[in-house]
Amino acid sequence: MQQRASSTREIPDAESIPRHIAIIMDGNGRWARNRFMPRVAGHRQGVETVRSVIKACIERNVSYLTVFAFSSENWRRPTDEISFLMQLFANALEHEINKLHENGICFKVVGDLSKFDAGIVQAIQRGQHLTSQNTRLVFTVAANYGGRWDIMQAIRKLMAQSNGSALESFDFEEEDLSQYLALNYAPEPDLFIRTGGECRISNFLLWQLAYTELYFTDTLWPDFNAQELDHAIQSYQKRERRFGRTSEQLQVVVPTEG
Ligand code: IPE
Ligand code: IPE
Ligand code: MG
Repeated sequence: MQQRASSTREIPDAESIPRHIAIIMDGNGRWARNRFMPRVAGHRQGVETVRSVIKACIERNVSYLTVFAFSSENWRRPTDEISFLMQLFANALEHEINKLHENGICFKVVGDLSKFDAGIVQAIQRGQHLTSQNTRLVFTVAANYGGRWDIMQAIRKLMAQSNGSALESFDFEEEDLSQYLALNYAPEPDLFIRTGGECRISNFLLWQLAYTELYFTDTLWPDFNAQELDHAIQSYQKRERRFGRTSEQLQVVVPTEG
């Protein structure tokens, strides 16, 4: 499952189902507010949506699903909301890991785990270990993740490998750095989805989204479902992924017989 090829250098089949879908699950708070409920009720409902989207991805043969659950900037939220989100994460780890495993799903977490409670870190490690050989879907949760953090930690690891050579004389390529990025086991996302109406990346996968097709929907995350996923995939299938080339260069010349 080691997959380091850069999608900026190869052209995936545009007609096909995206191999890797990355989602910013936004709009939980507004969903709750619209119902005169506390924001946290939206987060709870959001977990249900994650469950149904995992199922839909498996049914559609998506190989990698990555969801943004908590950003490195979300620590700026009120402490009671943060505590609730941590508790929700801990509960989900406790109750969902075995189900993921039974369904052949490989579970991963990317992000700076140093800020999490020891119990959460242990549950993550247990889940990753238990499901490491599963191949039906690689499901990654980005928690305390930031695209800038990811690039910085990769640079630190790369420099640690430079054997003390001076920066000027240390020659390295894109792949030398990308092997240390948190998602080094996955191809770059083909399709990015953000729910909740905002058209921004909010420090998600900055490196990996270089040539990803972007899809924004006003649908709030708790209302997102398999049908909405299909709309996003249909939009993706209409795109022409050129990776810097011209449209003409992409036309496949089929040799005629005789
Ligand atoms: C996304 O929903 C979930 C997290 C960031 C944890 P929000 O909580 O951002 O919901 P809105 O954007 O305020 O509606
Ligand atoms: C992005 O949502 C982070 C997650 C969904 C985890 P936010 O709601 O935090 O993003 P901003 O603050 O509106 O950019
Ligand atoms: Mg939000």
